[in-house]
Parts: sequence; C-alpha cells; structure tokens
Amino acid sequence: DDARAAGGSAFTFDEVAAGIDDKHHVAAGYDADVLLRWGDPIFADAPEFDPLNQSAEAQARQFGYNNDYVGYIELEGSSEHGLLVVNHEYTNEHLMFPGIVKLVDGKIEVSSADQKRVDIEMAAHGGTIVEIRKDAGKWQVVRDGKLNRRITATTEMQLTGPAAGHDRLKTNADATGTKVFGTLNNCAGGVTPWGTYIMAEENFHGYFGGELPADHPEAANYERLGVPEGTYEWFKFYDRFDVSKEPNEPNRFGWIVEVDVNDPTSLPKKRTALGRFKHEGAESIVAGDGRVVFYLGDDERFDYVYKFVTAGKFNAQDRAANLDLLDAGTLYVARFAEDGAFEWLPLVQGEGPLTADNGFVSQADVVIETRRAADLLGATKMDRPEDIQPNAVNGKVYVMLTNNTKRKADQVDAANPRAENAFGHIIELIEDAGDFTATRGKWEVLLKCGDPAIAEVGASFSTSTSENGWFGMPDNCAVDSAGRLWVSTDGNSPKATGRTDGLWAVDTEGEARATSKLFFRVPVGAEMCGPLFTPDDQTAFVAVQHPGDGGEDWEGFGRPSYYEDLSTRWPDFKPDMPVRPAVVVITRQGGGKIAV
Ligand code: FEO
Ligand code: CA
Ligand code: CA
Ligand code: CA
Repeated sequence: DDARAAGGSAFTFDEVAAGIDDKHHVAAGYDADVLLRWGDPIFADAPEFDPLNQSAEAQARQFGYNNDYVGYIELEGSSEHGLLVVNHEYTNEHLMFPGIVKLVDGKIEVSSADQKRVDIEMAAHGGTIVEIRKDAGKWQVVRDGKLNRRITATTEMQLTGPAAGHDRLKTNADATGTKVFGTLNNCAGGVTPWGTYIMAEENFHGYFGGELPADHPEAANYERLGVPEGTYEWFKFYDRFDVSKEPNEPNRFGWIVEVDVNDPTSLPKKRTALGRFKHEGAESIVAGDGRVVFYLGDDERFDYVYKFVTAGKFNAQDRAANLDLLDAGTLYVARFAEDGAFEWLPLVQGEGPLTADNGFVSQADVVIETRRAADLLGATKMDRPEDIQPNAVNGKVYVMLTNNTKRKADQVDAANPRAENAFGHIIELIEDAGDFTATRGKWEVLLKCGDPAIAEVGASFSTSTSENGWFGMPDNCAVDSAGRLWVSTDGNSPKATGRTDGLWAVDTEGEARATSKLFFRVPVGAEMCGPLFTPDDQTAFVAVQHPGDGGEDWEGFGRPSYYEDLSTRWPDFKPDMPVRPAVVVITRQGGGKIAV
C-alpha cells in the first residue's frame, strides 16, 4: 500500500500526538473504554467500591490495584466471550488511602501503616480472573461468572517442582515446605497453550523486613536479591515477612505461579522448575516437536534472560495432560556473543560449576539461587530484561530491555551497547533453524530507544518515525495474530522524555523496520501495561497502571492525596473518587480488526 511503498509504517492508523495531560488518548476511529477499575466488584454479591470505607474483606471481592499483565482465555473458542486474567502488581498507598500523606520539601511522606491498612494492601495484590463478554460491540464484565476469582497475598498455594519440600523452603507455619500463602508483585505473566494463567513474581524483596544475621546460611542468597528491602510494613504485623523470625519465607517467593482458571477452588502452583528471580513474565510457544518454551526476564540491572523448555509435550486433545508440564524441563540462561550469536546455557545441577562444592547439592539449590548459578555460568548481564515475546508468525523472539543507567562505558557489550542506557532497547532473537528449543541462535538489536533528534542518545528509530512515534523504556509487548509488534512503556514522563507512557506499533520487517507509531497514551503519572490482543485482533486490552503517581517528579501535576488537587482523577473525574488504575478495552469504531 501507499504507506509501505513510501518506506513508512505499515500501520495505517492516524498516529496519536505524544504529550501529557490527565486523560487517555487513542488513535482516531477507535474507542478506548474503561472496562475494570480498582475497586470494581467482580462477584454478583461483592460490595460497591467505597473509597472512604475500605476493608480487606471488600477488596478481596473487588478488582485489585495496579493492573499489570492482562491475558485473555477464550471460552468455547470465542474472541467475544472469555476470561480476562489480570495481575495486580503492587499498591500505591499515597493514592489509595485518604489523609495519610503530606508533602515535605516536594517529596511525599506516607504515615505508618496500621494492620487494617496492611490487610487492604494485601487484598489489593495478586490477580483477578473475571468473565467478560462482548455485547453489541461493547465489552461487559459478567459479575456472576462461575469462574470469577480473586487471588491475593493470602491465597493458599502449593510449591511444586525440584525445590518443593526442600529444607530451605520450610517455615514454622509449614513444616512440609510445600504450602505457601499468597503471591507478590505479579508483574507481567502469560497464558499457557493449555489455557492456564501465569503470574510472575517480580520485586518480592520489598515485602520483607527485619534483619538476617550476617552469618545466616541464606545471607548471600538474599543479598543477591536485595532481601529484605522493607518497602512495605507488612513485616510489622505478620512474622512471616520478618526475616529475623522466618528466615526461609523469602525462598517461597520469586517464582512463576500457574493458576488453573477452570477451577476457582484450585490451588495455584508455584512452579519452581522455572527458577527463582525477579520474574517479569512468562510468554510461551509450542515448539515444532510439541515441547513448550517459556521466555523469562529477570528485571534487574545486569541480570539475565532465561528460557524454560518443558520435558513433556503439549497435548492439544487433552487439557488435563498438560497441567503439570511446568514441573519438569530445562532452564537455560542466555549468553550473547559479540558476533551476533547467542547460546542458551543449561542450569542443571552437576553440570559445569553447578556442583555441591559450589553449594548446589541438588537441583533445588540451583532453582532457589538461580542468579548465582547463572553468574557462575557466565551469562550476559543485561539492561533490565522485561517482557520477552515469541512471535509465532515469523519465528522470532523480542526481548524488551527497559534501561540501565548504571552501565558504565567499560561495561558496554554488543547486546548492551550503550553506557548509561536511560531509554532501553529491544533485541530480536532468531533461534537456530527456527526451533524454539534450540540451544543456539543469532540475535540483533531491533531498536535503540530514545529521542532520535538528540544525537547523543543514539536512538535507532527509522527516519520514517515521527516526533510522536519514538519512545523510551520498553517494558511489555504483544504480538498480534498477524505477527506485528506492539510495545508498551514504563518511564516516559514530562521529565524523562516530555511525553507520557503509551502503546506503540513497531514495524519489524522490510524497509519499515524500526518505524514506530503512537497508538494510545496514558494519563499523567501512569505506566502502560498489558497489552493484549484477542485472537481475532478486533480487541486490544491495555492496563493503565499507577495513574497520578510520581507527582514529586514534576511541578504542576502531582499532588499527594485525592483530598488535594491531584494530577488526574482518571478515569472517573469525580470529586469523591480517587484516581484509579484500570483496564481499558480498545475496539475499532464500526467493528473490524484493530490494525489492517
Ligand atoms: Fe514490574 Fe519489570 O516491571
Ligand atoms: Ca513490567
Ligand atoms: Ca507480552
Ligand atoms: Ca518496568
């Protein structure tokens, strides 16, 4: 078509103007409707949201805070009726609770928590599974859906795989080392080919407080992960979050969690075979031989890119036969060579340096201390690996590397080519012979992000990219059924890039490669999560996370409480309603695919 012939974007929508205000914006000709907000009831008998009378009991029956990953699981093969699965990564107390903050020297100070507040925070974490349906072109929440479920920081879960039952996972409350309550900081995630919901546990270190004796056997393990950080005050009320009282509890977090959405009473499973680190997400694809490959990012500066290949094969005829596939397989970590080749190094006890002499007595030790095992194998230290997305259409895999301002000039390598990398980059992997189970392949930098008009930034957007089209800090991404890449961002702000976060459509093939266009942008203070397309490509879901946050970063927008002049009261814009994270559903006016 015309756009392609001109070497411009293959996406024909009219680009949104980059900028900043208190609302969301979508390309002309599309509707972007708020579907689910923090506090919305997700059961027929759940209480309506009452921000001045919050309780943990109500919150556990309502949509949680800070929606991040969004997945869609079809019911009866439909793109218009399914289960929406949504992670609730963390809580922003200063935006949730009235009267608990003051502004001191331009910085917000939040008053100490009481147990009631902590219990609400715990209930606002986790995930939501909720039935949704498209009626007359508009998506609705089905409140009496039989599979609707809230998962929180107190939901009972089971540890499975090589570390289950190990002494290092035993606590006073659980002598079996297999029974754990809750999941924390669920960032991105995934939906498996057999229709289960994956929740990745990312920054779990922030929930632990107290002090671990320096000579404690877990001291080095916890130091590598930043445990305990004490961001939250839960440890003051619950001993299990105090490492001086329950030193093994942090070993029960940092896993990939799998939820069988078909049974709302099922125990979510923490699948230890996929390793323990700050898991960003777990997007998967069925390889040619039927084994299933999960791509895993560890979101920390100088940490690693992983993949897990199941030992067993996917059975498309028998869903139940797949339900424990994640308990056996091989976990690999990536090493990127300067010449554009890469290698997947197996994290297997007894191989190479992963021996008892180095503290890896069994595979349990390898998965509990995945980072230390990967250090010993010489994996490549990356610029904060976030979402990693395989593309079934072209066989490639996209790796979002969000930023790393701490990389020094003498730490630059081909796969992390910029010092003080403030804006991040995207790497494309091509597994050998297009086989996702391969242990080698080739890689290329698809895109170095940032403002291409500032030469020192070194961005590599195509010259067809408009001043609205560039972005920094890639975080989540999606591939639509035509194989096109959509990237959402975390960190664009008036200060960082003069624009809010958003969803960009990025060309990956042909002349238009590395051309980007802005499709949707968030209100001030928010990060863009999701995104997700239904299989028919007629609906895109995006998650607006922490709108109104970060007020201390810029003048004129941010205010610490909704009793004062908040930066935005999105999405309700009512005086008695706080700003709320929410999932937005995007459809084309008059119907049809989002992008043609
Ligand atoms: Fe929760 Fe790595 O973003
Ligand atoms: Ca993320
Ligand atoms: Ca994704
Ligand atoms: Ca991020």
